[in-house]
Amino acid sequence: MLGISERSKYSINPIEETNSAVKLLELSGKKITKLNIGDPAKYFRTPQYIIDAYISALKDGKTSYTTAGGLYPLREAVAAEYKESGANADDVIITSGVSEGLMFLNSIVINEGDSAMVMRPYYSMYNSFLQTMGGIPVDMNLDEQNGWKLDIEGASKAAHSSKRLKYMIIANPNNPTGTVFGRNDLSELVDIANDNDIVIVSDEIYDHLVFKGQKFTSLADVAKGTPHIILNGASKALAATGFRIGYALIPEHDKASDAIREKFIEYSTMRLSANTPAQYAVLSGLTERSERERFVKHMVKEVEDRCDYASKLINESKYMKVVPPKGAFYLFPKVDFKSLSIKDDKELVDLLLKRELILLSRGSGFGAASHIRIVGLPEKEILGDAISRIDAFLGKNRRAR
Ligand SMILES: Cc1ncc(COP(=O)(O)O)c(C=O)c1O
Repeated sequence: MLGISERSKYSINPIEETNSAVKLLELSGKKITKLNIGDPAKYFRTPQYIIDAYISALKDGKTSYTTAGGLYPLREAVAAEYKESGANADDVIITSGVSEGLMFLNSIVINEGDSAMVMRPYYSMYNSFLQTMGGIPVDMNLDEQNGWKLDIEGASKAAHSSKRLKYMIIANPNNPTGTVFGRNDLSELVDIANDNDIVIVSDEIYDHLVFKGQKFTSLADVAKGTPHIILNGASKALAATGFRIGYALIPEHDKASDAIREKFIEYSTMRLSANTPAQYAVLSGLTERSERERFVKHMVKEVEDRCDYASKLINESKYMKVVPPKGAFYLFPKVDFKSLSIKDDKELVDLLLKRELILLSRGSGFGAASHIRIVGLPEKEILGDAISRIDAFLGKNRRAR
């Protein structure tokens, strides 16, 4: 019988949902300020040394499949990034982006009706991949009043009252809130994972993007002895989104971790190989230390400056307020819809696109209605102009008293 599955209704990405409206506007010659997708390669060119390594790989004919689990020297380089964990190359699987790691994870551990703990607000793809496999998300709330701090007690209660819980996933630093979770938060989460006999997954794709006064701690440094999976990749800190290279590290050697790691490898054989020249390029990206450090330092300084500037401007508005991010590169302000004639974040995003040619993402797509997500990567002039126009637009749409 022809037809699509019931659960494929969850295959949505709120960041992309305006694509057809955008296309129509662009076809009619309009230029749109796009602040919806967190793509550092658009604002910080992928560093030249990585591009050179990609070109060399092509010129040297490195265009065949690699071993399904990934190019061994790249797996070694990734393990070396997490050397505190004692991981070795065989504990690493190279994926086509963290996105493919999420797809593998859910397909491997989730049966219809199983559940997984996801922070709210969330990176929407955690829920989409989970739900397309028939899984049910359980919220762990971040408290905006408290600077988007994790409500650990609430998370613990939610875990205890959930049935068939399989894993917990966190994004650290966090998309969309910009929270950086420290050692204490991570240990408390590890305790919850142990109490409930679940795997803990840490998506560390923004690991290097932490601002002044913040220190990034990998879950791998805290979760020794607890089954855990680290997801990371080249997209953000190496500004190489289009290379589609990610990694999954499963460093523990207990029964559950071994089974999951073996399945990750098996899954990778189903699609044969990740992009080969891109793997060589990312190998250089990680191992050419001085080039890498120079690039990351420059990018983080710029991103922090831009996000600080944007936060200040947003907080001068009468209609929106933001908790300034401590890492990653998103601003996630709450909009005071009570003072506006606009109904909600979806209507606002639609109107801003049509009337102001500014493209944002709606907070409800991240599990936080009344919020909007603004990507803080563009230069200050562009960000400043967009935020002033958003503020003016809100002012024009204030509710008549
Ligand atoms: C938290 C988080 N994880 C994963 C991804 C996607 O990563 P990749 O490009 O490696 O698939 C994103 C992209 O925005 C993200 O914000």
